[in-house]
Amino acid sequence: MAHGFGGCLLSFTILVLALIVPCSQSLRIKNRIKTKSAVFLSPKFDLGPGSVQEKNYYDIDFPRGHIAFKRFDAEVVDEAGRSVPLHEIYLHHWALVRYRIRKDVPDVEHDATQKRNQSNFVYVRNRGICQGTVLGQYYGIGSETRKLSTFVPDPYGMEVGNPAEIPDGFEERWFLNVHAIDTRGAVDRLGCTECRCDLYNVTKDEHGHPLSPDYIGGLHCCYDQTRCKVREGFQGARRSLYIRYTVEWADWSDFILPVQIYIFDVTDTWTGLNSAEHHCKVEYDIAESCKTTTDGTNHECIDTKRNKARIPSSGYVVYGVAHQHTGGISSTLYGEDGRVLCSSIPIYGKGKEAGNEKGYIVGMTTCYPQPGSVKILDGETMILESNYSSSQPHTGVMGLFYILVADKLPNPSLSMHSPL
Ligand SMILES: *[C@@H]1O[C@H](CO)[C@@H](O)[C@H](O)[C@H]1NC(C)=O
Ligand SMILES: *[C@@H]1O[C@H](CO)[C@@H](O)[C@H](O)[C@H]1NC(C)=O
Ligand SMILES: *[C@@H]1O[C@H](CO)[C@@H](O)[C@H](O)[C@H]1NC(C)=O
Repeated sequence: MAHGFGGCLLSFTILVLALIVPCSQSLRIKNRIKTKSAVFLSPKFDLGPGSVQEKNYYDIDFPRGHIAFKRFDAEVVDEAGRSVPLHEIYLHHWALVRYRIRKDVPDVEHDATQKRNQSNFVYVRNRGICQGTVLGQYYGIGSETRKLSTFVPDPYGMEVGNPAEIPDGFEERWFLNVHAIDTRGAVDRLGCTECRCDLYNVTKDEHGHPLSPDYIGGLHCCYDQTRCKVREGFQGARRSLYIRYTVEWADWSDFILPVQIYIFDVTDTWTGLNSAEHHCKVEYDIAESCKTTTDGTNHECIDTKRNKARIPSSGYVVYGVAHQHTGGISSTLYGEDGRVLCSSIPIYGKGKEAGNEKGYIVGMTTCYPQPGSVKILDGETMILESNYSSSQPHTGVMGLFYILVADKLPNPSLSMHSPL
């Protein structure tokens, strides 16, 4: 069958379609920033039962120029363009990363060592707050990708491609990191998605360093080209897949207010003393544990993890969302006085079809506060809390919180009369 799609595929070019938001819609919604959107395909990758894809795709198709970046949605599709459900291909994550590269050097895809040459390659990370390039992406989303709103509300936008910020001889580009696991025929589907080392028969990390015996699962056991255990005799064809992504943007204008991206990680060991000492481990494990409630009638099986977070300056939260894995219950970012800045809850699927897969997190609730209603004060120490069900153990789970912060509020008279 797969060959039958060959003809189709030729017309299925990288730029699938580009469309301008219909006029009727922009007229109806007053003061809405006029955006454009386009749908693109990543390079093709092949997966067979048990196999893992973990790659960076450099210089992906992305709108060029000085723009306000408004939305990025992505999902896994097959050669016919059909959405592939999570119980077949588990999308562990995709991450969108901005970088600048000297125009006359070959792209890093062709020469991995260029990546480390700082005079040719500059990683443009978000505002923080983890160490180095850790969690430096603009967006990074996993199984929840199909039902998660990534829209940056008006009149805000992420300002990218500003020529004044790009050094001479350099060009701004984007790479997409994709981590997908084919769990068809898996002996233990959840175990494969949680990267349990025994199922992958992995004892060394991707650089060949032995893993410590108490490392039982996580990203160091399910890197590119590893294989999760499949039922004996299971037959499943290798398939060609793509990440299909939709970008929405607007030309930059002074009416658009820039937002900064911050990502907090509940495993960050920062104590609140030395602002430089962040160490985000990104993943953690949940041990099975239940305690009896005070009245002795019920067992409560909740793992609560908390830590502190701070951003370098004050601002208004315009968007917020958490990232959790299967077993996740809820996550909240609190202000120093205990007020809720944003609470985000996983949405679990109930059926079989793509976007509603039972047992998987297929979406996360998001926060779009009324302008000015959620303010982070200068130097405020926030608390991040991540709750998981501990009725069974989990490995390699995450407790991330992503917020967009603006340092200005929209000027009411401007937004009333602006031509946007
Ligand atoms: C880095 O790139 C520059 C410019 O292309 C080159 O002169 C330099 O030798 C490179 N450094 C390394 C360590 O490769
Ligand atoms: C697991 O890996 C070891 C060596 O790394 C190898 O000898 C063994 O055959 C592997 N087991 C399976 C089931 O693949
Ligand atoms: C996490 O669970 C604890 C204990 O049940 C509860 O007090 C807290 O409110 C929960 N937090 C979130 C973010 O749901």
